[in-house]
Amino acid sequence: MKISIIGTGYVGLVTGVCLATRGHQVICVDKQEDIVKRINEAQPTIYEPGLDELLEGAVSKRNLLATTSLMDAVKCTEVTIVAVGTPYSEGKIDLSQIKQSVREIGDILKNKDKYHVVCIKSTVVPTTTDTVVKNILEEASGKKAGRFGLAMNPEFLREGKAVEDFMNPDRIVIGAYDKKSFNTVKRIYKDQFKAPIIRVNLRTAEMIKYASNGLLAALISYSNEVASICEETGGIDVKEVLEGVTLDKRFSPRVGDLLINPEMTTYLMAGCGFGGSCFPKDVKALVSFADNRGYSAEMLKSILKINETQPLRLVSRLETAVGGLQGKKVAVLGVAFKPDTDDVRESPALIIIKELLNKMATVVVVDPIAVENADKVIPANASSLCYSSDYKYALQDADAAILATSWPEFSAIPAQEFVMLMKNPVLVDGRRVYDKQAMEAAEVEYIGVGLAEFLP
Ligand code: UGA
Repeated sequence: MKISIIGTGYVGLVTGVCLATRGHQVICVDKQEDIVKRINEAQPTIYEPGLDELLEGAVSKRNLLATTSLMDAVKCTEVTIVAVGTPYSEGKIDLSQIKQSVREIGDILKNKDKYHVVCIKSTVVPTTTDTVVKNILEEASGKKAGRFGLAMNPEFLREGKAVEDFMNPDRIVIGAYDKKSFNTVKRIYKDQFKAPIIRVNLRTAEMIKYASNGLLAALISYSNEVASICEETGGIDVKEVLEGVTLDKRFSPRVGDLLINPEMTTYLMAGCGFGGSCFPKDVKALVSFADNRGYSAEMLKSILKINETQPLRLVSRLETAVGGLQGKKVAVLGVAFKPDTDDVRESPALIIIKELLNKMATVVVVDPIAVENADKVIPANASSLCYSSDYKYALQDADAAILATSWPEFSAIPAQEFVMLMKNPVLVDGRRVYDKQAMEAAEVEYIGVGLAEFLP
C-alpha cells in the first residue's frame, strides 16, 4: 500500500520504517529540510535499537522516502497517518500540531478525487478524532466524512523497544468512522503482522490507549503505596509482598511445570516512581479531560500524587539517615527515567535532585548517557551540582548515595566499592537492585524502598 506519515518523531519514524520493511511504499513528511535529508540518506534522526538497519534497508529498496511536501505525499498515497506530538501543557493536552496537520491534509483533499483515509496515531483524548479532527477535515476539504475515511490507530510502543514492539504487536486497535475506513487501515496490517485486529469506534480506540497507560502507571503507584505502608510498619519487605501477590495464578499462570511470569508483573514493583514522555503526560491529560466532562478521576489523581511524593519520601529517609543534608555530598546514581535511554523527561531522579538542592546538599549526578539532557533541565553550577558519567567520581567522598535508575553498571557496583570510595557509606536503593545482606555485611548502611527495620 502507499502510505504517507506526518511527523518523524519516535512514533512516526518507527511506524514508517517498520511499514516499509513489511513491503509498503511509505512517504514520511516533515517540515524540517535537514530531517528529510537525513532520512533520505538513511540516517535515523532518533535513537531506537534496530532502527538504523531497517531504515537502511527500506531506503535502499526505495520503500521509504522523506519529503517536505505534504501535497505530494497525500496525493500519491491512499492513507495518511498522523503521528505528530500531543504534549501536555497549561493543564490540558495541546492539540495544536494535530489541528494544523489535519487542516493542511483537508486542504489537499479538496482537490483529490480518489478516496483517502486520514488515520490518527498520535495519542489524543477521547472524542478528538470524531469531533475536532473530523470537523476540521470536513471544513477544509468541503467534503463530508465518508467521502474521505477517518481512523484512529493508537500505538503501543515502548521507548527503547519501539521497533521490536511494532514488528511484534500484541494487538492492533483500529477505531474507524465507517467500514470502508476500517477495511483500508486493516489492509496495512493484515497478513503483515500476526496479532488480533480489534475494530472499535474512534473514541473507544482513543480511550484504549489512555486506559492502557493509566493501568500500567496505576500498578507502579499501587506498588509504591504498598511500599510506603511497609516502611511505616517496619519488618515487612515490599519485594517479598509483591512477589507473593504476583504468584497468584491469575497473574502468573502455571502451564504444566512452567510458571508463566507475564511482563505486566514487572510494573508491580516499588521504586522511585514512573517517568518518561508518556505515563505522566497521558494520566494528566485523562484527568483534565475527565474534569472537563464533570467527572473527578480520583484514582488517576492519586496515581499522580503518589508518583510525585515517592521520590521525596526517599530523600526524606536519606536526610534522616545522614542527620540533615546541608553541606552533605550526595551521589545520585542515574537520571534517565529508565535504563537504556538518555530520556530524562519527567524522570523521578529530577525531583530527587531538586529536593536535595532545596535541602542545601551538594549533588553529583552520574548517568552513562543522560547527563547532557539532565543538564539542560537542571543546569550544573559550581557550588552545588555537577554531572559525571563516572560513578567512581560521584561516589568519591560522598556522604550518601541514592540509586534512581537501575542501570546494570550501577546495580553491579560491589559493596566494598561503596565503602572504599564514600566518606560515609549510606546507600538509598530506590530500585531495590542491591543485596541488603551483602551491603550490611560490608558495613554499608542500606535503606531500601519499601523496607524498614522491624518495629515492635
Ligand atoms: C509506555 C508504555 O509502556 C507503552 O506501551 C506506550 O506505548 C508508551 O508509553 C506510549 O504511550 O507511547 P515508555 O514510556 O517507553 O512506554 O515506558 P515503559 O518502558 O513502559 O516505562 C514507563 C515507566 O514505567 C518508567 O518510569 C519505568 O521505570 C517504569 N517501568 C517500566 C517499571 O516500573 N517496570 C517495568 O517493568 C517497566
